[in-house]
Amino acid sequence: MEKEKVTIIHSLDELHLFSCMVFGEVNDTERDSAGIILLSGDLGAGKTAFVKELADCLHIKEEITSPTFVIQKEYSVRDSTSSFKKLIHIDAYRLERKEELEYLGWDDLICNPENLILIEWPEKVVGIEIPHALHIYFESTRGDERRVSILSNTQSV
Ligand SMILES: Nc1ncnc2c1ncn2[C@@H]1O[C@H](COP(=O)(O)OP(=O)(O)O)[C@@H](O)[C@H]1O
Ligand SMILES: [Mg+2]
Repeated sequence: MEKEKVTIIHSLDELHLFSCMVFGEVNDTERDSAGIILLSGDLGAGKTAFVKELADCLHIKEEITSPTFVIQKEYSVRDSTSSFKKLIHIDAYRLERKEELEYLGWDDLICNPENLILIEWPEKVVGIEIPHALHIYFESTRGDERRVSILSNTQSV
């Protein structure tokens, strides 16, 4: 069963708190494969901003930039509270089929429980195998305000 939870975020500071809360939830959920967070929403809705704030929660010092052109970027996680050792940021915007993500080694990525995978534009790779994921939808309402809804127990996009 999927459950939906809606939150209104009023600022980047609130986005920071929200991303730390989401990380805590994924970090604490028992798993035997990668942790996966799907990020949906229009351009500028805040998907990359969410990844930046989450990386900040994990004290990742490298600058997080959108992987639109390289598709995938990896960052080491050294935070002692994290059960993940790698944050993998994927932007599927330029992909046309799930096979393109499979060529990039998707099957190996999802097998490893030490990977935390965040995917922007999951709609571009419909049908890709997803063991368990949180699916977050971002919607820009006005100014810095965002309506964010979370669905859990997603089996596929
Ligand atoms: N509350 C908020 N949540 C997310 N982004 C916000 C918020 N307020 C302002 N922004 C700004 O909106 C922009 C969102 O851009 P980005 O995260 O790149 O969007 P996307 O990756 O969804 O295309 C950023 O410039 C970010 O600083
Ligand atoms: Mg983006």
